Amino acid sequence: MIKNQWYLVCFNNELKKGQILRRKIMGQEIVVFRTESGKISVLEDRCCHRNVHLSLGYVKGEHIKCGYHGWEFDSTGKCARIPSLKSDDNIPKAACIKHYDVILKHQCIWAYFGDEEKKPEAEVPPFNELDKWPMVYNYHLVKGSLKLVAESLFDSHHINHVHRKSIKTLMGNLHNEPPDYHLSVTEKSLNGWYLRDNENSILEKIYFGFKDKVETHFAFWFPHSSKLDLRFPAHLTMPSRQMVIYEHFYQVDEDHVMMIQITSWHKIFEYNPWFAKWFMLQKSMRIVEEDIAFLESNKYWHDKKRLNDLLIKPDELTFEFTRLWNKNVKENDKKTDQE
Ligand code: FES
Ligand SMILES: [Fe+2]
Repeated sequence: MIKNQWYLVCFNNELKKGQILRRKIMGQEIVVFRTESGKISVLEDRCCHRNVHLSLGYVKGEHIKCGYHGWEFDSTGKCARIPSLKSDDNIPKAACIKHYDVILKHQCIWAYFGDEEKKPEAEVPPFNELDKWPMVYNYHLVKGSLKLVAESLFDSHHINHVHRKSIKTLMGNLHNEPPDYHLSVTEKSLNGWYLRDNENSILEKIYFGFKDKVETHFAFWFPHSSKLDLRFPAHLTMPSRQMVIYEHFYQVDEDHVMMIQITSWHKIFEYNPWFAKWFMLQKSMRIVEEDIAFLESNKYWHDKKRLNDLLIKPDELTFEFTRLWNKNVKENDKKTDQE
């Protein structure tokens, strides 16, 4: 479990005033709620009275109220009212619930699960397009390896095969020639871009353009986010257009990974926003289902004597990703052992 990070708890538009959502992130059951004045709070999903789920309760004013005996907690997790106590009785000091730091950025609500002193090093990934473009999103619980999920979006060679019936033509093809990935790698991230052969159908070509190549950008931020960014240049009377897919992922428990896919777009079907939304939702649901079938079919990642991947020369991108991943996981495990 890689804890010293900001993780995406939910989207801003999912959490209305007075609403409660529950989540499980790295084994921690949490409750996220928005008070009547709009304040967002993330607490452990456990009432300190009898250890039942706080998420079974409801929001009352600026408090979350446990549904069992009505104890009320403020947004820092401190118990503010116990209805069964006489007004001159004191609320016990121990009556408080673990509280997590929370921020709202890029239309998403993020919570920090790690050590306080490591917080300045943790960054929310730059999902900048979500601040200005429309988006659709969906959540998927995957029974499989976090590492495999982490790479699945930008793995360059899988698109031709896994997505051969869905977005292969839109995204373009890769033939024998190894692409130049224009790769740039830092301590905790990688990014780059390369060209895929435009094999769009005639209808897609009329809309997306006749250029020989489709420009594909990608990025990965250890340990929880990746990006795929397709750029379609201006063509006929159409302006340049863009489609960006983000994936955010985290360990739910030892066997399950949450994969959140977000698709955002610019100037695609802009005269019919409803159609654009429907189109993007259809595409994203289809491609994520295609991916999950393969991600869940790998049963060896959990095995102590697991089979190693057999990487070959054209797997350059996978190789660089694996190096970055293993190095950071090792450092994380070392720190956890020292604690
Ligand atoms: S269990 Fe929550 S108030 Fe009693
Ligand atoms: Fe995929």
